[in-house]
Amino acid sequence: EMMKDVLGLTLLENKLMERFNLTKVIVVSGDSDQSPWVKKEMGRACVTCIKERLNGKNIVAVTGGTTLAAVAEMMTPDSKNRDILFVPARGGLGETVENQANTICAKMAERASGNYRLLHVPDQLSKDAYQSIIAEPHIKELLEMMRSPSMVVHGIGDAKTMAERRRTSEQDFNKIEKGNAVGEAFGYYFDQEGKIIHKVQTVGIQIDDIAEMSNVMAVAGGASKAKAIKAYLKQSLDSVLITDEGAANELIRD
Ligand code: G3H
Repeated sequence: EMMKDVLGLTLLENKLMERFNLTKVIVVSGDSDQSPWVKKEMGRACVTCIKERLNGKNIVAVTGGTTLAAVAEMMTPDSKNRDILFVPARGGLGETVENQANTICAKMAERASGNYRLLHVPDQLSKDAYQSIIAEPHIKELLEMMRSPSMVVHGIGDAKTMAERRRTSEQDFNKIEKGNAVGEAFGYYFDQEGKIIHKVQTVGIQIDDIAEMSNVMAVAGGASKAKAIKAYLKQSLDSVLITDEGAANELIRD
């Protein structure tokens, strides 16, 4: 903590809390656009935050992405030996396997010596197929856990970067571009006012579910993500923001 004050990070955290009306912000030193280890530092801070917020039910829903992969990498077993169950927050969203919520969820559980459940429902399904799959008792139970976990930990992406990285159809890509989407989180694309421009069709947590939750952790850094983070914050969700100096300095500018 003393080191943090020397670096002025506490000041940055306070400025962000005030500016965006947040109750908790963690800023780690550096810019993850420049140095890959900064992502891991955000991951480490996030792991601490997750453990602080375990409250008995301990169902942790996680999204995909490279930042969440860094959180998984930094995960360690709980010193109090509490049972933790990790579930994916949403389906695959068109990501490659290593960036999918399922993969990250399994890895996190392994490192935490916890348990996990995986979602075996493909994203692109006909309505009929979808209805019969979600009626399966074990899928139904998992979907309930995905939509009302005790906490959700998610990344925030730059809209265009995410649309390009995922298998986005030309039609959806155009919609995202024409709508001037700048940010993305859990498959929702937002413009700079926070308006939802597009939503990837998949099962799991919806933005309305998140709005009802009190333990939401957003992990995103790098100066290049400032616009995306700002757009996400317009949702006024009651989230803890874990970011880095690179993004924080951009966020408090102007
Ligand atoms: O789901 C993806 C996130 O929104 C951002 O991904 O952590 O790789 O930048 P990232």
